[in-house]
Amino acid sequence: MVEKPRGRARTAGDVKKPKPRAGRSTSSQKWLQRQFRDPFVADAKAQGYRSRAAFKLIEIDDKFHLLRKGARILDLGAAPGGWTQVAVERIEPQLGKGAVYAVDQVELTPIAGAEAMVLDMNQNESIDSLPATLGAPVDVVLSDMAPATSGHRSTDALRLETLAEAALAVAHAALRPGGAFVAKLMRNGREMDFVKTVQPSFAQARMFKPKASRQESAEIYLVATGFKG
Ligand SMILES: C[S@@+](CC[C@H](N)C(=O)[O-])C[C@H]1O[C@@H](n2cnc3c(N)ncnc32)[C@H](O)[C@@H]1O
Repeated sequence: MVEKPRGRARTAGDVKKPKPRAGRSTSSQKWLQRQFRDPFVADAKAQGYRSRAAFKLIEIDDKFHLLRKGARILDLGAAPGGWTQVAVERIEPQLGKGAVYAVDQVELTPIAGAEAMVLDMNQNESIDSLPATLGAPVDVVLSDMAPATSGHRSTDALRLETLAEAALAVAHAALRPGGAFVAKLMRNGREMDFVKTVQPSFAQARMFKPKASRQESAEIYLVATGFKG
């Protein structure tokens, strides 16, 4: 069952529509117009978040209360850093407890309070070495990893599933008992297979579609809590 977020979506003030410009392709014009109309894009800019994705994690955490002060968080697919910013805000590692580890295959512009690592999570060596690199178990593994879109739906879906499986493998090795796991999935009829894989090792596994996740997007998040260890 998909959990419905409570409350109203954020809105932004009036945003000017971009004028079509000669030389821009129709798809890039459409993308630009969508960006300008999107209240989450405006809010992200106003609030200093590096991505509108930050609001997805805010909604997930407001509902499931995963990012407790002083917790240890692993953020997979962290760039450009919106989720990492939210995690740092909520964990407050600068107070001396807790940590935020931000992992991506591309370099992350530093975020105070987070430790960034460049790793390709499609590589077995990354999956195997990451838990030990963290030094101690973590409370939450977040994965917003997504492949660059190829335009071929089933290829993209398969690549996303592979990344979610990599995140789950890391979660199994790095989470403390009672910990939580969040992973980006795609609604395509196969997402429940992944949920079934996750269920035995967690007390609860639910699907959640934040308001900040575009309605036309098939993206959905798995939120699993109570890792059994
Ligand atoms: C949707 S973005 C994440 C947005 C981020 N959560 C934020 O709030 O800014 C997906 C990220 O997954 C990363 N990614 C894709 N494949 C990856 C891989 N094999 N290993 C590590 N990161 C990967 C991409 O580089 C990209 O930065």
